[in-house]
Amino acid sequence: MQTLLTHIKQLLQVRDTPIHKVSGAEMANLPLLENAYLLLENDVIMDYGKMENAPSLEGMNVVDCSGKIVLPSFCDSHTHIVYAGNRSGEFVDRINGLSYEEIANRGGGILNSAKKLNETSEEEIYEQSKKRLEEVISQGTGAVEIKSGYGLTVEGELKMLRVIKRLKENYPVAIKATFLGAHAFPMEYKENHQAYIDLIISEMLPAIAKENLADYIDAFLETGYFSVEETIQIMEAGKKYGLTPKIHVNQFTAIGGIKACVDHGALSVDHLELVTEDDIEALKNSDCIPVALPSCSYFISIPYTPARQLLNAGLPLALASDFNPGTTPSGNMHFVVATACIKMKMTPEEAINAATINGAYAMDLSDTHGSITRGKKANFILTKPLHSYYEIPYCFATNLIESVWLEGK
Ligand code: NIG
Ligand code: FE
Repeated sequence: MQTLLTHIKQLLQVRDTPIHKVSGAEMANLPLLENAYLLLENDVIMDYGKMENAPSLEGMNVVDCSGKIVLPSFCDSHTHIVYAGNRSGEFVDRINGLSYEEIANRGGGILNSAKKLNETSEEEIYEQSKKRLEEVISQGTGAVEIKSGYGLTVEGELKMLRVIKRLKENYPVAIKATFLGAHAFPMEYKENHQAYIDLIISEMLPAIAKENLADYIDAFLETGYFSVEETIQIMEAGKKYGLTPKIHVNQFTAIGGIKACVDHGALSVDHLELVTEDDIEALKNSDCIPVALPSCSYFISIPYTPARQLLNAGLPLALASDFNPGTTPSGNMHFVVATACIKMKMTPEEAINAATINGAYAMDLSDTHGSITRGKKANFILTKPLHSYYEIPYCFATNLIESVWLEGK
C-alpha cells in the first residue's frame, strides 16, 4: 500500500545520505524541502522531493498537507516511563522548601518509588505505564528508551524489564530497554555498597541476560549514589552480557565520571547539568554522545546543561525527556525542544537535530529512525498549519500536532 503526502509546506530533517549523528557546528543546519511530497510504502519512507516532481496520484492514498510541516518523530533516548504511583507529595515538599537531596536523605526519592514498585503487581505497573507510553506517542515520540531502576531487588528489576518487554511487543514504537539496578543503594545496603553491587553483578545481570530483557546498562554516577569506581564495576559487568553503558552523570556534581564512561565504552552520558573542561576533553574524538534533559532542570530548578559550551567544542548533543516520577513527570518532547531553545539558547535547528537524529544515535537507532531518509521507518509528525518550523519551539505550550504517523499509519 502506497501513501502520498502532498504539498507539505516544510519537510524537515531530510537526509539523502544516511548519517548517524550530527556534531557541533553541523547541528546549526537542519536540511529541509519546501513544498514537498513524501511517499510511503507500508511502514517505510519510499521517496520524497519537490511537489513539481511528485509521482501521479493515481491509485494512491493521498493526504493533502497544504500549510503543514512534517518532521521525523522524536527519538527520546532517556526515560523511566515504567513506575508505580507518583511522587506528587514530594513535589509539594519541594515547594515548601525541601531540596531533592533532603527528600532522598529521608528515604524519599528513588527509594520511595522503589517501595511503591515492589508493592505493585506487574499487571498494574503495565496498566499505569502503558498510559504514559500512549501519552508520549500522542505527543510525537516514535522511538523511546525505557529504564528499570525502581525495583532495586532481583524480582523488582525483572518485573520492570518484563513490563518494558510487553510494551515493546504491543506498541508500534521502537523501544530500547536499559537495566538501571544501580540507581540507588537500598537502605539495607547503605553501609555495605559492595554487597549490593555484588547482587547486581551476580544475581540481577545473569537473570536479565537469561530472559534477554535489556539492551543497555545504566548507573547513577553521583556523589551519594554510585562512585566512579563502583560505576566502572557495573559498566564492565554489563558489557560481559553485551549491555552497552548509558550513564546518569554530572547531574549535581562533577567527579570525573564522564572520562570513566568514555574510557569504558559508554554510548551516552546523560544529564551533564555540570560540565568541566576535563569532561569536554574526554568527550572529544569519542563515539559517546552527551544527552541533555532540560525538563528535569525545569522541574527541580537546577542548572541547565551548558549546551553552547558543548556545541562550541564541536561535540554532538541529544535531547531527551527523562520522564520519571521524581525529577520529570513529563515525556513531552515538544516541551523539551522548546525549553532547550528558551533556556539553553539552542537554535530551533540544533534542538530539532538533538531530539531526532541525535536521539536515535543515543539508542543505536539511527539506521532506521531520526530522519526523513529513503528506507527508514515511516515515523513522523504532521503539524497543524504553521508558517515555519520556528513556531515549534516558539509556541512552547500549544499542541501543534495534527497527527502522528508510526510505521506508515
Ligand atoms: O534522571 N538522577 C537520577 N535518576 C532520575 C530521577 C530519579 C527519581 O528521582 O526518581 C533522573 O533525574
Ligand atoms: Fe534519568
